[in-house]
Amino acid sequence: MRSDEHFLSRTIESYNATSSEYSQRFSTTILEGHISRFQSMLPYGDLPVLDAGCGGGRDAVEMAGRGLRVVGVDLSEELLRVARIAGARNLVLGDIRRLPFRDSSFSGIWSCASLVHMPPAGVRKAVSEFKRLLVPNGILFVTVRHGSGTEWREDGAGGARWFQLYSASEVEDIITEYGFSIETSVVEPGLVRGKWVSVFAVGGS
Ligand SMILES: C[S@@+](CC[C@H](N)C(=O)[O-])C[C@H]1O[C@@H](n2cnc3c(N)ncnc32)[C@H](O)[C@@H]1O
Repeated sequence: MRSDEHFLSRTIESYNATSSEYSQRFSTTILEGHISRFQSMLPYGDLPVLDAGCGGGRDAVEMAGRGLRVVGVDLSEELLRVARIAGARNLVLGDIRRLPFRDSSFSGIWSCASLVHMPPAGVRKAVSEFKRLLVPNGILFVTVRHGSGTEWREDGAGGARWFQLYSASEVEDIITEYGFSIETSVVEPGLVRGKWVSVFAVGGS
């Protein structure tokens, strides 16, 4: 197995082993302003949005509560179980680099901290999938940890999660490479710790 695949599978094992504690810990870290903006930018309110890497379902539930039709996808079966209990619906076990959905089926894609466990090659595959799945002028929101290099972070239960940190220009370059125009890109403090690069982009026709 290539090392980045091995790092991702160890990371998903960690999420599976700590799903309840993890979801509880981040249950209130809702990017409310970004969710409002995402919703206001959607070109079609009646088409679904994809929560790509939905984890324990916090944002999927929030967006559904705001009237959006939400589909959630994640690689962690246990986080999806937590998401289901939290009230999220339309949940799919899958990899955001190879998504099982038809072209142009979403009005928006929300990727909150889900590209953080992949090196640039994996992020390129995911962004290429996001482009395929979005309608023309569909909205993409991405937020990833800001910085450089990679790190392992212990999960307190004997496992660990692997992270890749990104500069704003690295993220912007990958997103524009797949035909998106950047609306805004900011480096901002995280709700828990560290800095994050948050990008809103619009998919071309
Ligand atoms: C830091 S958590 C963020 C979860 C959620 N979006 C949130 O903001 O609370 C990263 C999530 O991305 C998921 N993930 C990572 N790589 C993935 C991939 N290739 N395909 C699907 N999900 C992935 C993990 O299972 C985990 O749920």
